[in-house]
Amino acid sequence: MEFVLKHNTAEKARSACQIITVSQPRKLSASGQLVDKANKGILSAILKNGDMEGKTGQILLLPSTGITGVQRLLLVGCGKESEMNERSFERVIDAIASTLASTGARDAEIYPGEIPLKGRDLAWKVRQASLLLNNSEYRFDSLKSDKPAAGKGLRKLAVNVAKKDAALATQAIAEASAISAGMTLTRDLGNLPANICTPTYLARQARDLARGDKRLRVSVLEEADMKRLKMGSLLSVSAGSRQPAKLITIEYRGAAAAEQPVVLVGKGVTFDTGGISLKPGQAMDEMKYDMCGAASVFGTLKAVAQMQLAINVVGIIPTTENMPDGIATKPGDIVTSMSGQTIEILNTDAEGRLILCDALTYAAKFKPRCVIDIATLTGAVIIALGKIPSGVMGNNAALINDLIKSGHQIEDKIWELPLWEEYQDQLKSNFADMANIGGRDGGSITAACFLARFTRDYKWAHLDIAGTAWKSGDNKGATGRPVPLLTQYILNQIKS
Ligand code: BES
Ligand code: MN
Ligand code: ZN
Repeated sequence: MEFVLKHNTAEKARSACQIITVSQPRKLSASGQLVDKANKGILSAILKNGDMEGKTGQILLLPSTGITGVQRLLLVGCGKESEMNERSFERVIDAIASTLASTGARDAEIYPGEIPLKGRDLAWKVRQASLLLNNSEYRFDSLKSDKPAAGKGLRKLAVNVAKKDAALATQAIAEASAISAGMTLTRDLGNLPANICTPTYLARQARDLARGDKRLRVSVLEEADMKRLKMGSLLSVSAGSRQPAKLITIEYRGAAAAEQPVVLVGKGVTFDTGGISLKPGQAMDEMKYDMCGAASVFGTLKAVAQMQLAINVVGIIPTTENMPDGIATKPGDIVTSMSGQTIEILNTDAEGRLILCDALTYAAKFKPRCVIDIATLTGAVIIALGKIPSGVMGNNAALINDLIKSGHQIEDKIWELPLWEEYQDQLKSNFADMANIGGRDGGSITAACFLARFTRDYKWAHLDIAGTAWKSGDNKGATGRPVPLLTQYILNQIKS
């Protein structure tokens, strides 16, 4: 969607659809009042008739208004001003998006500053509205024969703000467009089936991402390279797969070479059958989403590169399938990780940590200012937190708090679980330095405890996105999370 700024007053609008907000009870926004006044009280008459209370998400589309220059006028309810929150803001924008998608209007004009929401400034409202509207256009139909006719729906949105706010609105729109482009890439990669989206495919996508951008550089380690680096843990997961594993590194250089990078490590299991510890059949198709951590690294780098941010970011993506086979790793097998620590693999379905630990050891060579890993790591995080926030754990309180704050800033929330020493006991192995599972209790925490043994040399945080990276059911599909969170975190590193 194309966004343009406008500064005219509302009664002078020229638009296929002017969007006016109404709060409860029956209260027109300032722009609504201007339009009303200039048109003999047409809007207040409608409110008086009881056709628009102003309840959150309520819609009244006036197809022919007689108002000069405006083909349609869309009244949208925001609810009571005192009760308005980020959730109702989203409902208001969603209502606008779904209505506009079904009208003939190709352009519309909106006054985002007039959506009443305390505690959020104009820049936030413009960015969030643009982001939600952009994301509402997302479709994944490249593999369907019947595609909806192109050229339908909204093409251009005029964002009306005061002239003095033009610069901040321009910046907000640019950020929204970059984040949305990143999320789209993340969702596309996530939604692709595992017979297309293989480790080799991801490596090719990385090269495509970097093409034409001098700030991006890609390198790919093959299994032979991993063998040389002694990544015995990562290789134990790919042992059962016909698809060769890859370790993809994408480097974004927006600042001086000496500046330490933020390193993002994304779990890229392109399909997780569980291996010899085979998963039950129920919803197993959704294990094509087990590379959503990797996909979020792609998306974040895309957003960062589009904004040309003055920072260094390195994305590291260990990617493989987890398959059962005659030469697959078996429960009880013991492998040696790149760090030298030995691991007894008691369950081949706890494979994410096995590929991440070698990638995390490898990450140290970039002298990171911090390392954030992103992984659809445990079903247990859904039991603990549901599907609203991602889980966060780590070895540095300041880093974790910065991430939590970033999540609130852009409505991509995370919640901390305790990564206490006491939990480490659950990883005891009779025969190796550690086991790869810690039992049912606190499953997300013991998974992070495992990773913590490989991240002692730098500031590290782990995001468990098993509950947030995709949706199940009728609206099955990748969400693009946590690209907003990660991009916001990186933006904050520059601004501070
Ligand atoms: N990819 C899964 C985690 C997962 C499961 C994400 C369901 C989303 C929905 C991961 O590799 C896995 O299988 N984890 C196991 C760990 C267990 C064997 C210790 C799990 O969560 O059951
Ligand atoms: Mn698994
Ligand atoms: Zn997995």
